[in-house]
Amino acid sequence: MRWLRRESLLCRLLLDSRNFVPAMPETPSESPSNRSPDPTFDRILVTAALPYANGPLHLGHLAGAYLPADLFCRYERLRGEDVVFVCGSDEMGVAIMVRARAEGISPQELVDRIHPQIEDAFRGFGMSFDHYGRTTSDTHRETSQDFFRTLARKGVFTTKTEKQLFDPEAGIFLADRFVVGTCPKCGNEKAYGDQCEKCGTALSPLELLDPRSTLSDATPELRETAHWYLPLADFQDRLTTWINSHPEWKPNVLGQIRSWLNDGLRERAITRDVPWGVPVPADVAREMGIGADGKVIYVWFDAPIGYISATREWAAGRGTPDAWRDYWQDPGSRLVHFIGKDNIVFHCLMFPAMLMAHGEYVLPENVPANEFLNIEGEKLSTSRGWAVWLHEYLAEFEPDLLRYALATTLPETKDADFNWAEFQTRVNSELADVLGNFVNRTMTFATRYFDGRVPPLSNPSDTDRAALAAIADFPDRIGSAYNTYKMREAVFQTMALARLGNKYFNDTEPWHTRRTNEEACANTIHVSLQICGALAVLIDPVLPFSAAKLRDMLQLRGVAPSAPRTAAASTGKQILWGDAAAPLLKTGAPLGTPHILFTKIDDDVIQTQTEKLHQNADSGAGTGAADAAPASATAPAPAPAPETPHPPVADEATFSDFMKLDFRMGTVLEAEPVPKSKKLLRMVIDLGFEKRQILAGVAGHHSPEDMVGRRVAVVANLAPRQMMGLESQGMVLMAEDRDGSLHPITSTGENGAVIR
Ligand code: MF3
Ligand code: ZN
Repeated sequence: MRWLRRESLLCRLLLDSRNFVPAMPETPSESPSNRSPDPTFDRILVTAALPYANGPLHLGHLAGAYLPADLFCRYERLRGEDVVFVCGSDEMGVAIMVRARAEGISPQELVDRIHPQIEDAFRGFGMSFDHYGRTTSDTHRETSQDFFRTLARKGVFTTKTEKQLFDPEAGIFLADRFVVGTCPKCGNEKAYGDQCEKCGTALSPLELLDPRSTLSDATPELRETAHWYLPLADFQDRLTTWINSHPEWKPNVLGQIRSWLNDGLRERAITRDVPWGVPVPADVAREMGIGADGKVIYVWFDAPIGYISATREWAAGRGTPDAWRDYWQDPGSRLVHFIGKDNIVFHCLMFPAMLMAHGEYVLPENVPANEFLNIEGEKLSTSRGWAVWLHEYLAEFEPDLLRYALATTLPETKDADFNWAEFQTRVNSELADVLGNFVNRTMTFATRYFDGRVPPLSNPSDTDRAALAAIADFPDRIGSAYNTYKMREAVFQTMALARLGNKYFNDTEPWHTRRTNEEACANTIHVSLQICGALAVLIDPVLPFSAAKLRDMLQLRGVAPSAPRTAAASTGKQILWGDAAAPLLKTGAPLGTPHILFTKIDDDVIQTQTEKLHQNADSGAGTGAADAAPASATAPAPAPAPETPHPPVADEATFSDFMKLDFRMGTVLEAEPVPKSKKLLRMVIDLGFEKRQILAGVAGHHSPEDMVGRRVAVVANLAPRQMMGLESQGMVLMAEDRDGSLHPITSTGENGAVIR
């Protein structure tokens, strides 16, 4: 069997590469440009999860898949590797239909609007894709239909007629996100028909407890329909062997896969009865005696094939239409999928099974999936508007600042938090105070006192020598972190070089030696400039725009581009990553004009961003709710009614009156209307130390969906009360406007946190 041969060859290659550390020159003066890049692989193919074209990108997307993928690609290109980096918009599937329906437009109209927006935002952020495709393209339809046909003809699929959930009101089978219900595994009440996003479990609609149609809210009925299935159980052994050959994968990824494998893999339907998707090829349907009418390929079957389609489009665009095969079908290719943790099962089990079944493809060498990014301590939620949108960020700030701030907080091993205050600290105390300051001091000295040229190094002191020698370790130290997907570590080590530079500058005090010992001063500026030269290469993956500015200031030419170039390839020897180990600037070489690399961000700018985040969340929906939930376009209602006076302040309370009340933070776990009551919602609230049932008269203002997941303030020691036959064990605090509208009081404190 062909796939076995390839697979074992690939495994061997991968095992060999596991402990690979890039070779370093013996001495910093040897020209490292001539070193061969990674000898284990001939080329690298990198994919980043195709984002659904149903809403704009937010920071969660960037931290999960895109930024780490871009850091990796830029680093590998700078190392001189042959890299192809593909991505594209995921435009098929029910997630798109749900959003289009909510907007009252066709799926095609939706993706035609969103795709260019996403592409633009990616460009603004500096994503260095070689090709960004879309799954509505002709190439993709053909590629995925061919793939489906090959597997069908090989007898990989099974077909069967089964009862499935059907919405009698909407007249449609309820696949995937058309149906929600309770996850049988974790109890999440908003699990979709194909996956529970809370625990990551892949589901089929029939597994959902208490299913409801998201189209009509109807309770579905069962109807018969025929479909194709991928029997993953047939691949269980091969997948297990393959996964076992990768003990070096991230523990969070292996953990999820092992639990899947332990549960035993089951078949997955790979076709759907919905009017939007890649059609099941009619010839295959005929051969199998099933009417293909209206049947489309399941989006999680076609979307990963989108990586192949994008690579084909890239190859065609270069005029080498067959070149895609080198990246997908030659065992010398290193395939890496960057994804968020909710995509693990599809990239580590389902797509590899498809690739194995096909037989002509390499398997991923790694799938470095990240965990989730929270925002200001709360779970990111697009439907609630609790998100920071990339296009909004880019309208106000430089991309590099976000790249850096996110890279230092990537959720590599556990969920991480983005907050604006930390963003400000990263920019002000690290980018501006350390990196920017070091470059600026060095450039200013060189311009003012050394005629804008690189001063000579003569009779260097021990301190000068030590600083120069220290540079030599950095390319390797940073590089092996990138190469093993430890992006935070890589960026931390990058900044360590700038710190070293700053410390050296302080220790050698050129502002004194300028008057007392000109040779020593020249040495300081020479060495500092060499550190700047190394930084101009080494900061490039994380700060590509600033790196280009720095190279301009230093007049450092010939550094290999970290992004695909549009113009003709440059001639002559290029400066590669490893070359940053040795001095890059020549004595006497002219420098450019100094510019400030990073400007500090004021407190009020940060406050505006924090307020905007809260406003979006309070208004119930973000700028472009990308969640499947229909757009609950609740209008923000802060319109004051000037003629209505504010209620008078209540009678004075003593301090001990106040201290009698125990206010705590809690999270709404469940919320539902109280039968026969117009006003009451019954909520279950997690106070950290215990759960409470609390009834609140907010039904006229907040839907149960709107309340679930919210952080609220609770009066925890109020005597229990009976309402509508239920006990209320406390009170949820709300701000009441003069027009009677109610707003939950929220904070980032932990559940159970005492409010005083
Ligand atoms: N669109 C999917 C998501 O956002 C990811 C698709 S990744 C691919 O979760 F492999 F299918 F392309
Ligand atoms: Zn679940």
